[in-house]
Amino acid sequence: MNENVRRKIYEQAKEWVLKAGEIIQDSLNEQRVIKSKKEKNDLVTDVDKKVELFLVKEIKRAYPKHLILSEEGFGDKEITHKGTMWTIDPIDGTRNFVNQKKNFAISVAVIHQGVGEIGFIYDVIEGTLYSSLKREGAYRNGTRLNDLEVKKDLEEVSLSFNHKLLCESDTFDRSVMEQLTNKVRSVRSKGSATLEIIQIAEGLLDGYIAKNLSPWDVAAAIIVLNEVQGIATRANGDKINIFKEGTIFVSNKGIHEQIVLNYLKNWQRTLT
Ligand code: IPD
Ligand code: CA
Ligand code: CA
Repeated sequence: MNENVRRKIYEQAKEWVLKAGEIIQDSLNEQRVIKSKKEKNDLVTDVDKKVELFLVKEIKRAYPKHLILSEEGFGDKEITHKGTMWTIDPIDGTRNFVNQKKNFAISVAVIHQGVGEIGFIYDVIEGTLYSSLKREGAYRNGTRLNDLEVKKDLEEVSLSFNHKLLCESDTFDRSVMEQLTNKVRSVRSKGSATLEIIQIAEGLLDGYIAKNLSPWDVAAAIIVLNEVQGIATRANGDKINIFKEGTIFVSNKGIHEQIVLNYLKNWQRTLT
């Protein structure tokens, strides 16, 4: 993507994401309309929809040819690797939004011909905007994030898992997660994939392992993470196809290979 075009899109997207944050702030004390989607714990609220619709309208007004992959259905149905695509998760961590009114974020990515170019993560309650432009660094409220420290000793690292790793499954061997949990210093689960990956980019956490994540859950945060030399792959170490749902393993460079080889390769029985 041409640098000037990228910079222009970045500035516009930043404005839209901040405005989307105002929509969420204004809604915090209102009565919520909450519905379950396919699974009973997969929630959507009126605010998720309002935020996504706002972002989709702004993007389509400015860039009618760009495609949008978004969680709540206001984006495009067909997505290709060609051209420019946006991913939108209007609220990542909807359960936290409903129950805690914190620990959630807006997540917006711009991908050009399959390559992540721009990422925005907005933790509305903390007032923290993470942003990233490919090859120009990752920022937290305008302050550049440092490259990640390379840790090698598994006994010194803290990991984060999504709750699905604790459930019985035909395709994943849960005992592998028990072995890994016994090895590392600590395990956490925040309930927002976006913010968990961002915690790694900030050096607050060392790795995040999850399954059944969609492009909008991870795209923007991975773009930020790439700028601080973090690694994101499928759990078995394969390259991520950002257009597909799947597992994810995100970490600093020092622990990635050893966790894939010694644990995650055995964890996945069939899926990628
Ligand atoms: C969810 C969160 C959660 C992860 C789920 C996601 P949502 O996104 O990121 O941490 O475990 O798999 O679906 O539904 O709150 O946007
Ligand atoms: Ca999500
Ligand atoms: Ca969501």
